[in-house]
Amino acid sequence: MVAIAIDGPAGAGKSTLARRLAKHKGFIYVDTGALYRAIGLKLIRKGITCEDTAGVEGVLASTELDIRFENGEQVVVLDNENVNAFIRTPEVSMMASACSALPPVRAFLLDMQRLLAKKNSVVMDGRDIGTVVLPDAQVKIFLTASSLARAKRRFNELVEKGQEVVLEDVLADIEKRDYNDSHRAIAPLKQADDAALVDTTELDLDESFELLLKTVDDIMKGGN
Ligand code: DC
Repeated sequence: MVAIAIDGPAGAGKSTLARRLAKHKGFIYVDTGALYRAIGLKLIRKGITCEDTAGVEGVLASTELDIRFENGEQVVVLDNENVNAFIRTPEVSMMASACSALPPVRAFLLDMQRLLAKKNSVVMDGRDIGTVVLPDAQVKIFLTASSLARAKRRFNELVEKGQEVVLEDVLADIEKRDYNDSHRAIAPLKQADDAALVDTTELDLDESFELLLKTVDDIMKGGN
């Protein structure tokens, strides 16, 4: 099995580019952020805050989380419900970021992610894939862009989905999530020592993909 780990901050284009890369390579695409989002969604629905550790542990103990692939697309199944349509709101983004700092949440999702990479060749994206989840991945990429470039992209995505948002709010959310994700005690967002940096600030989507693909292919050639 081959594993391509793609980590980076929110809005760097990870999911779009990783999905495209997976299709190109014929691998499965695993969006690990969606798993944290599903947990965030359940906590919101149950009215449990991340400060309530016992409450969070109780929720995890009674949670069944699974992913399946339909036409190559990842479907997140939370307690037998397809929650893909509910996990992309700004509220769920913030809750996912907050609850992802909790050790029981990370432990809950760790085995699931590793098992997927054991059974399939994967392009897996997240924050700690190259550092913690798959430290032996053959290819590690740290995909980033300036916070303003990322906020503009996320803003456009949300507007396209019909959500009413303001660019300043999206930028503030992105910067808050960057801070949360890179300052937590366990598995913080950081570039693995052996990860290649891909910066897409000045690039459009196609240019970003070309750079990503070239970087991945160079690493795969170098490794063989
Ligand atoms: O990639 P995303 O924006 O969908 O991720 C949502 C949140 O989940 C993110 O703010 C931090 C957390 N996350 C994480 O801690 N580790 C991962 N591997 C993926 C996401």
